[in-house]
Amino acid sequence: MLVKIDNLSKRFKEKVAVTNLSFTIQEGSCIALLGPNGAGKTTTLQMLARILTQDSGSIQFKGYAPKDYQPLIGFLPQHPSFFNWMTAKEFLSFAGKLSTIPKEQLQNRIEKTLIFVSLEDAMNKKIGGFSGGMKQRLGLAQALLHEPKLLILDEPVSALDPKGRRDFLQLIDNLKKEMTVLFSTHILHDAQQICDEVLILQDGNLKWKGSLPSLRKEFGLLPIKLQTEEPMNGIIEQLDVIDAFEFIDPKTVKISLPENVHRNELLQKLIDRNLSVVHFEIMQDSLEDAYMKVVRQ
Ligand SMILES: Nc1ncnc2c1ncn2[C@@H]1O[C@H](COP(=O)(O)OP(=O)(O)OP(=O)(O)O)[C@@H](O)[C@H]1O
Ligand SMILES: [Mg+2]
Repeated sequence: MLVKIDNLSKRFKEKVAVTNLSFTIQEGSCIALLGPNGAGKTTTLQMLARILTQDSGSIQFKGYAPKDYQPLIGFLPQHPSFFNWMTAKEFLSFAGKLSTIPKEQLQNRIEKTLIFVSLEDAMNKKIGGFSGGMKQRLGLAQALLHEPKLLILDEPVSALDPKGRRDFLQLIDNLKKEMTVLFSTHILHDAQQICDEVLILQDGNLKWKGSLPSLRKEFGLLPIKLQTEEPMNGIIEQLDVIDAFEFIDPKTVKISLPENVHRNELLQKLIDRNLSVVHFEIMQDSLEDAYMKVVRQ
């Protein structure tokens, strides 16, 4: 275990942003912190990065006192700000001098990191002329420069176009081998691409934590979509092999089966009742439904 978070709470005047949040971060894991706007993601990440102080609760980094662990963290804020008149290289030099990087290693680290984020051709260009995607990659370079153990990224891809999004997620994916990653997003698909573990926040409460497959298992109801030539209402209700169902229209229904019932049994029952199946689909994206269920419950 790398970090243990216990009963973390934070309020801003009368607004409670995070309530009694507890979870652990295993070394080498990649965790997505999911939740809608205002869920408390930024507040949580800022407390972990020691930018905000919690009202109560604790953050324990394995083997370090709370005041000493900050150098182990790399942090990319949700809205990073830069000095537009600086070049990328000057900015990283400035950031590096504020960090714990030994002076003689700084130039080498800057070049290595700029190559990693594919900004080597722009290293002597002014940040003012950078696109949003370039700025985001420069922000990542700044977060990585001191080779942190835990990389915290607050909505790193929300402002990027589809290609920028994919490229940036690929960069995070490459980093997973070298460090522990915690990143927030309100989009399940981002989490799905690179992480297996998710924490779901809603109104400052931790609503769910675990792996994506177990989220699907617990909440991903109605994964079968079935369509027939004839209306099925009145028939589906009578089938004893069905766990739950929801009609989209009289000829289309979403179904879940108990674990001990094979889908062929369902098909057989439909055939026995002279229904002609025109579509039978195991839906992959019941995961999105599962996420929405957690957030709505
Ligand atoms: N400095 C602040 N002063 C007052 N209220 C705040 C402050 N920062 C956050 N809040 C409130 O705390 C709650 C949680 O905010 P937070 O920014 O952590 O959410 P979030 O999950 O990061 O949302 P988003 O997806 O929009 O970035 C919100 O209701 C927000 O209005
Ligand atoms: Mg936020």
